[in-house]
Order: sequence, then C-alpha cells, then structure tokens
Amino acid sequence: MTERLAGKIAIITGAARGMGAASAELFAREGARVVLVDKRDDLGGAVAEGINNHWAGAAVYVNADVTEPDGWTSIIDTTIDRYGPPQVLLNNAGIIRVQPLLETDLETFHKVIDTNLTSCFLGMRAVVPLMRVNGGGSIINVASPQGYEGRGNFGAYTASKFGVRGLTRTASIEFGPMGVRVNCVVPGPIRTAMTERKGWTEDDYAKAYGGYPLGRRGEPHEVAAVNLFLASDDSSFCTGADFIADGGVLAGKPREGA
Ligand SMILES: NC(=O)c1ccc[n+]([C@@H]2O[C@H](COP(=O)([O-])OP(=O)(O)OC[C@H]3O[C@@H](n4cnc5c(N)ncnc54)[C@H](O)[C@@H]3O)[C@@H](O)[C@H]2O)c1
Repeated sequence: MTERLAGKIAIITGAARGMGAASAELFAREGARVVLVDKRDDLGGAVAEGINNHWAGAAVYVNADVTEPDGWTSIIDTTIDRYGPPQVLLNNAGIIRVQPLLETDLETFHKVIDTNLTSCFLGMRAVVPLMRVNGGGSIINVASPQGYEGRGNFGAYTASKFGVRGLTRTASIEFGPMGVRVNCVVPGPIRTAMTERKGWTEDDYAKAYGGYPLGRRGEPHEVAAVNLFLASDDSSFCTGADFIADGGVLAGKPREGA
C-alpha cells in the first residue's frame, strides 16, 4: 500500500510525548520526514531516535520554545537545512492550568494564551510563505472541547482554545488561495500526561468518563489518525473546519446518574 505522507516534510510541535509523539511516529510510518519540536530534550530526543531506528534519517529533534519568534527561526532553519521546505505543520504544543479566574495571575494567563494560541499564529506566519512558493500545504491547529464550551477553573485554557478555532477559520480564508489548508483537530479527553490526575486509579478515570458516549478516555494514536488524514492529500478539499475526536463529549451531557 502507498504511504499516505510519502515525500512530505512535517513540523510537529509538542512532539516529545502524548499526541505529538504519537503523530510524529505515525507520520514517519506513513513516509514523512518529521521535525519534532519541544523543550523536553530527553523525551523529544528519544522519540526522534526511536523513529530513526525504524526509518533511518526520518526524524530530527529541535529544542525550541514555540512562543518565541526566535524559536520559529531555528525550527525553520533546521527543517530547511535537514529536509527542505515543509508541507505540513501540526501546532500541537500546549499547556493547561486549572484554577479559578480570580486566582489566576496575569503571567499564568499570558503563558497559557502564548503557548496554546500565539504559537499557532507564529507557526503559521513562519511556514505559510514557504508553503505558498512550494506547492501548498496543510496546517493542523489543536483545539479542544474547551474551544466550544466554558468550564469552571479552565478560564485561560478555554480562552486559548476558543481562540485557536477563530484563528483557524480566518487563516483558512486568507491562506486557501495560496494552496494552504488550515483545520482544527479537537481531541479529548485523551490518556496523556496532561490529563493524569494525582492519585487517580483506572476506576476513577472510568467513573469520570464512563457517562460519555464511548465511556472512556481516548488514546493518543486515535487522534494521530485524524491528524494523518488532515496532513495527507486525502483531506484535499477540507479547510477551515473542525475534526472532532472526543469520544462523544461534545455530543451532550453524560447520562443521568453517570
Ligand atoms: N490530553 C487531552 O485530553 C487533550 C484534550 C484536548 C486538547 N488537548 C491538546 O492537545 C495538545 C497535546 O496535548 P497532550 O495531551 O499530548 O499534552 P502533553 O503535555 O503530553 O504534550 C504537550 C507537549 O507540548 C510541549 N510544550 C509545552 N509548551 C511548549 C513550548 N512553549 N514550546 C515547545 N513545546 C512546548 C510539552 O513539553 C509537551 O511535550 C495540546 O495542545 C492540548 O491542549 C489535549
């Protein structure tokens, strides 16, 4: 069977673990060369090494802060030096802070917005000029069910993910004529470090998610599969849209008593 990303070069942020790492591995399996971006060098380097052990030379790890324009300069420099201009950008790096709005200091609020939203703006601004002159591309910005509905104690995170959906729509309108598609993936809840709760057992997770339609947390590879579709030419007529992989969370409230 043909590899679905044969010949493509993909930048994936937040690739040291979780859904970013799962997407990097799947993209490489499907023939892409992948640039893994993160600040967790040990984990990120290990993910790249694991990929290279299977597909020699398919991965490179870059230490960069996606909230900084300089970080994007080094991401682009490494991508071009190593592989050439990118066709895919997965803006996946993210953080969460759970606290009431009145207890959230400005620094924390800015950090969440910068990491989850401003990074998407900086990433698109860095790659689109390259995509435009090199045959187009596909950008995937990671949103969340908290980009659709508010949630107590998730104020900064919710604001950032609503922003990601708005930014994606505008970007799709501006970049479509340049041959660049821009979509959101909407994961959640997924079994990653971000959703681990101290002291929780599998039973606790089963109780928390049991009332939703699929009754469980998702696995990172289940979102990576949606990212693969969006990165590939299979999604050639998709832009400005949300692709939801949330086990039914947004379909409605859990059953009574669940
Ligand atoms: N896990 C979930 O249930 C869930 C649900 C909805 C949306 N999301 C979103 O999915 C994305 C991936 O989440 P995950 O669950 O895999 O999380 P994760 O914490 O496992 O991975 C996020 C990665 O981003 C990196 N990162 C954070 N700030 C960075 C920065 N400034 N520069 C470079 N790298 C940085 C981290 O080091 C980490 O490796 C995030 O955008 C998150 O908001 C997660």
